[in-house]
Amino acid sequence: MTKMTENTALEEQLIDDIAEALATRGFIHLQHLFPQWLALQLMHEVKRLAAFEFKPAGIGRNNSQQLNSQVRTDSTLWLSGNSVIQQAYLDWMEQLRMGLNRRLFMGLFDFECHFSHYSSGDFYQRHLDAFKGKSNRILSSVFYLNPHWSENDGGELLLYADEQVSPLLIVPPRFNSGILFLSDVFPHEVLVSRCDRFSIAGWFRVNSQSTEPFEPSQ
Ligand code: OGA
Ligand code: MN
Repeated sequence: MTKMTENTALEEQLIDDIAEALATRGFIHLQHLFPQWLALQLMHEVKRLAAFEFKPAGIGRNNSQQLNSQVRTDSTLWLSGNSVIQQAYLDWMEQLRMGLNRRLFMGLFDFECHFSHYSSGDFYQRHLDAFKGKSNRILSSVFYLNPHWSENDGGELLLYADEQVSPLLIVPPRFNSGILFLSDVFPHEVLVSRCDRFSIAGWFRVNSQSTEPFEPSQ
């Protein structure tokens, strides 16, 4: 617990690198993202909560669990910030949000995220996190919490360019690595995982009032 008080300040150079990559390519894959103590504490937190608090994941506003489970089978829990470690993660993302707004004028308004647990056999089929003009999700983030991940464990995130069949990037869900990508640009999927796989998926959003398409009938 002593390490909890260490600050989680983001280096300006890291924000510069992320902003540059997002502006030029739309995504960035990051290794050794957080201080070791923070990544370890997040791993303990997700494992502690996964045992009893997680619920089958939903998709958008669709509440049909039967339909959901054809698309994704992981379990999730939204971060509430009600523990010191969750707050540390949210603080870090808040610094990133402000840093990106200063550099890229993205107008990111807030950030929401959930822990995910893929048990052996779980997957998430190819999807987009947002459709142009239809969602306030702008920038997706996934952060991985799996030490000792090996090639036989499956569970890779595949990131695609548009309708392409072969992936642009293959991301193993390795401990303390992560990825950021523009939510409405890159379709992606999670291959079947062959062991427990833990992550935090989150979205930076713009204020919905400014992006909701105009609907005269409402
Ligand atoms: C998601 C998602 C990817 C991952 O939750 O929308 O695409 O690697 N997650 O966990
Ligand atoms: Mn997704």
